[in-house]
Amino acid sequence: MREILRTEDLSACFSGFWALDHVNLSVGEGELRVIIGPNGAGKTTLMDLITGKTKPAGGRVFFDGHDITGKPPHEIAARYGIGRKFQGPSLFENMSAAENLELAAPRENTVPRTFFRREPVRLRQKAGEVLRRIGLSEKAGNMACELSHGERQWLEIGMLMMQGPKMMILDEPTAGMTAEETRLTGRMIQRLAGDRTVLVVEHDMDFVRQVARTVTVLHMGRVLAQGPLEEIEKDPRVVRVYLKSDGREREHA
Ligand SMILES: Nc1ncnc2c1ncn2[C@@H]1O[C@H](COP(=O)(O)OP(=O)(O)OP(=O)(O)O)[C@@H](O)[C@H]1O
Ligand SMILES: [Mg+2]
Repeated sequence: MREILRTEDLSACFSGFWALDHVNLSVGEGELRVIIGPNGAGKTTLMDLITGKTKPAGGRVFFDGHDITGKPPHEIAARYGIGRKFQGPSLFENMSAAENLELAAPRENTVPRTFFRREPVRLRQKAGEVLRRIGLSEKAGNMACELSHGERQWLEIGMLMMQGPKMMILDEPTAGMTAEETRLTGRMIQRLAGDRTVLVVEHDMDFVRQVARTVTVLHMGRVLAQGPLEEIEKDPRVVRVYLKSDGREREHA
């Protein structure tokens, strides 16, 4: 598998605290990589560094053959093709699901797969295709504010799909979802990989078991373990710091 993302000794420091400490990560093109680890392990910080939201204190990020270290977030998103779904809502509440998707399509030349722009019919077709893939075809005309929590999360994933990123980053995509919604999200994310690379941060171990091939475990800003899920689940270090508590002890505190 061709490598698409590599971090070299990537580090982040906040007021003397090393939230990330020399993280070396390699992700293959089309891979679905799951990142797990206890609260405060540095998972979101790692995503912030990859997407340019936070500047690293040290180390480098390479994506698709380019050194993107320290580049501004909009450039990393639009020019290099790394899309990220945020926790907070980014939907237009009083527009339909289909309209939200159409608005999410890129308008610039710099992004690949933008042949839909200036072609309303193609755009509508693309939105229709994405609606099918996120299971919302029947809700195409519903306003975003009418959708359930889970459906809104899927619509946000759909908005990322409209941008056609080379890599998609999802930070806790199943947070607040029902068990059934979580299972459907797992299937959706499995289908997303292959065409593009997907990095997903998750706490829900049922979800991780459903989708995971290779898992990276972060702990105290470092890579504690990495490998196939079956091995990770048996690794005594991982069991000690994470799995015994299912990673949730502080979430509900
Ligand atoms: N902007 C910031 N300023 C100061 N400290 C920060 C900042 N961002 C993260 N941290 C600290 O860095 C550490 C790692 O945080 P991070 O959010 O990356 O953890 P996480 O693995 O995503 O945890 P969770 O599972 O709770 O989402 C934490 O101790 C956090 O308080
Ligand atoms: Mg986080």
